[in-house]
Amino acid sequence: MERIDFSDLNSDRPLKGKKILLGVCGSIAAYKSVFLLRLLQKQGAEVQVIMTNNAKQFVTPLTFSTLSQNPVFSYLWHESTGNQDWSQHVQIAQKADLILIAPATMNTITKLACGICDDAVTATVFSASCPILIAPAMDKDMFNSPQNQKNLQTLQAFGYRILPTETGFLASGLYGEGRLLEPDIIVEQVLFTLTPKLLLNQNLLINVGPTQEPIDPVRFISNYSTGKMGIAIAKWAYRMGAQVTLIAGAITAEIPPIPIQVVRVQTANQMFQAMLEHFPKASIIIGTAAVADFKPQFSQNQKIKKIDNQEIINLVLTQNPDILLELGKQKKTHQKLVGFALETHNELENAKKKLLKKNLDWIVLNSTQEKGATFGHDTNKVYFISSNQVIETELLPKEQIAIQLLQIIASMH
Ligand code: C5P
Repeated sequence: MERIDFSDLNSDRPLKGKKILLGVCGSIAAYKSVFLLRLLQKQGAEVQVIMTNNAKQFVTPLTFSTLSQNPVFSYLWHESTGNQDWSQHVQIAQKADLILIAPATMNTITKLACGICDDAVTATVFSASCPILIAPAMDKDMFNSPQNQKNLQTLQAFGYRILPTETGFLASGLYGEGRLLEPDIIVEQVLFTLTPKLLLNQNLLINVGPTQEPIDPVRFISNYSTGKMGIAIAKWAYRMGAQVTLIAGAITAEIPPIPIQVVRVQTANQMFQAMLEHFPKASIIIGTAAVADFKPQFSQNQKIKKIDNQEIINLVLTQNPDILLELGKQKKTHQKLVGFALETHNELENAKKKLLKKNLDWIVLNSTQEKGATFGHDTNKVYFISSNQVIETELLPKEQIAIQLLQIIASMH
């Protein structure tokens, strides 16, 4: 049995050790930058705020300096004091791992597109060599103006990442495009930008959660799966650069705000069809779903009535398709196929049998014997098993297990 050293990607604080400069411009959406700062810190980042003069009309530098525990940078120099620190914009820009401008106003976007650097935000951006993310915020007509659209295209062509805006109610009272993205979505884009791209050009197909097999219009057979483990894998695969298609059964876990394709299904047969449909373009397939092994032979169209004086009710079950078995035996060519196994006894032996039977490259074994592992928990303890390796993990957050599994898959040749 092996233990391997995984890279230091930490699911709890993935931005630990990263220095992020948060540029705030003069938009009413600047209040959201306070939450953004907090969320970035929660992910482990060290944040310093840079403000334009106009931004100070909306949120005070004191708010940002107190929360970030860093001085706010907003003057290139102090004429009255003969500031010695005239090159501060260069110093902070060179140390930054990422610059995020949120909200980015039309004024600042225009200056960046034209090369005007007359304030702390623009001068710092032009002195940086790290990735630059721009999250625009403005009223709909300003956002859609040909000048603004052209400037955004120019910045994109220069290699800046331009985040979309949301459509909705604007501070002006109008309805339309131009709202700043919500802070949690912006943070996801920061995480995406800074996560090593181990799965670039990979197409991941993953199924998650329980299936429900109808007995009648109001009842079904199912299980306790929540979908947490599979969603953690989908999220990290996206951050690592994969195109992700998620086939979701009746999950109770939340899907994070990431641009992946989500297909909702209810029954095992629907899940099988969806997997078959998306299989041809997939390079990695991971089966985390708790597919119901049995379904009622007949699903009644009407609610089954209680029968007086009859204690035993017979429900005839038939087997559902084993999705991974079918994919492994009939469809697999070059694809990497990974399954999960939940065992209650003879765990390793049973999991190895499944690995062979389903023609999998790896199987991830969970045991119901472990405290804090499997259904519903935020943690898991597993064995990663291939034909010639068994790797045991500690009890870890499910997200950390997801990272380790994806690192194993990425290292397969
Ligand atoms: O045989 P067992 O159900 O323990 O295998 C678990 C693995 O097989 C999981 O990856 C699960 O998603 C998959 N599976 C499947 N179709 C089934 C049952 C399980 O794809 N009907």
